[in-house]
Amino acid sequence: MAGKIRKNKDITIGKKRFPNWKAPEVRERAMNEYHWMVQYKDKFKLGKYTDIGAFTYINAKNGVVLEDGVQVGSHCSIYSYSTVDGLEGEVVLKENCKIGAHSVISPGVTVGKNSIVGAFSFVKDNIPANVVAFGIPAKVMRKLRKEEIS
Ligand SMILES: CC(C)(COP(=O)(O)OP(=O)(O)OC[C@H]1O[C@@H](n2cnc3c(N)ncnc32)[C@H](O)[C@@H]1OP(=O)(O)O)[C@@H](O)C(=O)NCCC(=O)NCCS
Repeated sequence: MAGKIRKNKDITIGKKRFPNWKAPEVRERAMNEYHWMVQYKDKFKLGKYTDIGAFTYINAKNGVVLEDGVQVGSHCSIYSYSTVDGLEGEVVLKENCKIGAHSVISPGVTVGKNSIVGAFSFVKDNIPANVVAFGIPAKVMRKLRKEEIS
């Protein structure tokens, strides 16, 4: 049916989504086969069953940790070091959290387990577990419903 938006209720996360997941190659300041890139790759920790979209840039100078099952949309920027405003700090994306496309994660931020950050967000403060947050700057909008956490 053209033009109709459907919600896939059977959508799965993490391990169930990628039963044959393999660790991607992480290159220094060069796109990998999925077309995302990391700077300071020795300080970048990537969990299992993670999914990072194309054209995402990760600056791991002060450490970036993506725990198991984390999903990052395309065109995101994750900075543990920001030369624009001089901020520095480890970024931690906790288990199964999801970052919508075109979002910016600022230094020192932790996004909590299972939480969803909406597209085009600027995340400058920590986001707790099990919530939906979005906006510029990102604010918690609601708690996740039980059925949204698997
Ligand atoms: C945030 C999101 C998960 C939806 O969360 P939700 O709690 O179900 O929110 P709703 O769809 O009910 O929207 C609630 C309101 O917020 C607005 N809104 C939703 N997402 C927004 C966003 N990212 N930025 C700003 N406003 C947003 C909606 O337009 C709606 O506004 P209204 O009340 O004035 O109509 C979804 O909109 C989103 O951003 N998904 C990311 C998709 C993506 O990036 N996909 C590509 C990677 S796979």
